[in-house]
Amino acid sequence: MNVPLSIKWEGKRLIILDQQKLPHEIIYITLENMKEVHDAIITLKVRGAPAIGITAAYGLAIEAQSYQTNSMIDFLEYLKRDAAYLGESRPTAVNLVWALDRLLKAASPIDSVSDAKQILIEEAIIIHKEDEESCKSIGEFALSLLEDKTKVMTICNAGSIATAKYGTALAPFHLGKERGKEFEVFACETRPVFQGARLTAWELQQSGVDVTLITDSMAAHTIGAKGIEAIIVGADRIAKNGDTANKIGTLNLAILASVFGIPFYVAAPSSTFDLSINNGEEIPIEERKVEEIININGKAITPSNTKVFNPAFDVTPAKYITAIITEIGIIYPNYLENISTQIVDSIEK
Ligand code: MRU
Repeated sequence: MNVPLSIKWEGKRLIILDQQKLPHEIIYITLENMKEVHDAIITLKVRGAPAIGITAAYGLAIEAQSYQTNSMIDFLEYLKRDAAYLGESRPTAVNLVWALDRLLKAASPIDSVSDAKQILIEEAIIIHKEDEESCKSIGEFALSLLEDKTKVMTICNAGSIATAKYGTALAPFHLGKERGKEFEVFACETRPVFQGARLTAWELQQSGVDVTLITDSMAAHTIGAKGIEAIIVGADRIAKNGDTANKIGTLNLAILASVFGIPFYVAAPSSTFDLSINNGEEIPIEERKVEEIININGKAITPSNTKVFNPAFDVTPAKYITAIITEIGIIYPNYLENISTQIVDSIEK
């Protein structure tokens, strides 16, 4: 199975696939310090909630190697300052602060600065490895749900390159291919940054999955015309009650799924749950630069001075979600009860 990777830790070097260059150029770049990691996250060279978290964890661990102090008090203060800097790079994906918090927790009880520096690198590697395992499990659970289905729609890129490997929403397609199950995937192009057209189409082609691209506005027609049997998407943050933030346009698909009577699945690791918030209204929605909308390939497509609103994510109310597929298992409604028991139990184990 030829599943592309977006993050590599080689020796002491953090190497990422520059997703801004895809699909025309497959270029891996080395990120040397926290500033470069911060820039790569903001500019979407690395993107997708789990991949952002993993990259930020490496970025913080790399930066900590340069702290010139023998005092653990000072060391932890620098670490918190830098975690806050990386943590504000993108506001919606909770995996980012989740990963940075894990590093802070790993370093806190350590007595010596040299040991803490080592622990931070090790913790980033663990987060990276765990995500790969989580995605594989998500893929298995998703495959079981999609067993009798062939035509599936998705949006954005919740694939291998948005995670450590395999992806979340795209994991069943990669694993299915390996097992001889032929899906027909319909990918929404995902305006304005085209993660569907540039990334999902490319990624699925890499592993030989049958993928058909549509523009976002073709979703309703395509569900009817092509007999779409299910929709599966990723997530950037899931509240305690199951409300889910994901790429802008996801809510449209969820409503369509409800109208057409087909299942709408969210696939995400437990690191995407934010149990500190009660519902989707508390999820911060990132607004990005107007240039993403008014320009295509650097060329303006609108009259000058056109007013623009560019939210990068929307929130799908839990009532539209048939099931949430995690590495721990499949969570069904009632989400308020079942997320608390299934996710909290697994975190406490
Ligand atoms: O703005 P992006 O490209 O980072 O948005 C990505 C998504 O919305 C993904 O669906 C989500 O992060 C899940 S990735 C497994």
